[in-house]
Amino acid sequence: MNPTVYNAALVIHIVGITVMAGTTFLDFFTFRVFRAAFLANDGRQLAMAGYLHSLQRFLGIGMLVILASGVAMMVELHQVWGVQLWFRVKMAVLLLIIINGLGFRRAIGKSLSQALSDGSLTTHWRATNRNFMLVQLIQMLFFLIIYVLSIFKFN
Ligand code: HEM
Repeated sequence: MNPTVYNAALVIHIVGITVMAGTTFLDFFTFRVFRAAFLANDGRQLAMAGYLHSLQRFLGIGMLVILASGVAMMVELHQVWGVQLWFRVKMAVLLLIIINGLGFRRAIGKSLSQALSDGSLTTHWRATNRNFMLVQLIQMLFFLIIYVLSIFKFN
């Protein structure tokens, strides 16, 4: 095992986590600002919706960096971590993060942009608001679970 390569991959892992988890938090906050603008109809909602849309890209970039660095660490130490319980549970939660953060988030983002452009957002508001809050809160909870698993390394 080369400790320098391993530690470099761990640094990159943390950079990826910062980008993805940080973007998730910003996404949550930005939706709240969008909601206030939309309900007050104060003219900022289009700009906020555009900003919400652009955040999606960083969720994907962060995920790629996390995956690449995680795989690099596993190449070095797969026989140690691969068999441990925390790692297996972490991989299951990771799958849920991908489905929720990249799949569901993209779908609700698309329907928000569509409803905003065809003027039907008022009709769909309750469902849109609930879906955004749910996806973002659940995503933050998944991140917290992965942090605890990765740091305590229960086995
Ligand atoms: C959303 C996805 C992920 C998050 C939030 C995450 C988070 C973390 C955190 C917080 C640590 C602890 C760092 C430390 O001890 O200093 C860690 C370590 C680790 N992660 Fe991830 N991780 C993710 C995905 C992955 C993936 C996909 C893999 C492998 C395929 C992976 C492999 C590892 C390994 C091997 C360690 C142990 C490093 C060590 O303590 O020596 N992670 N991860």
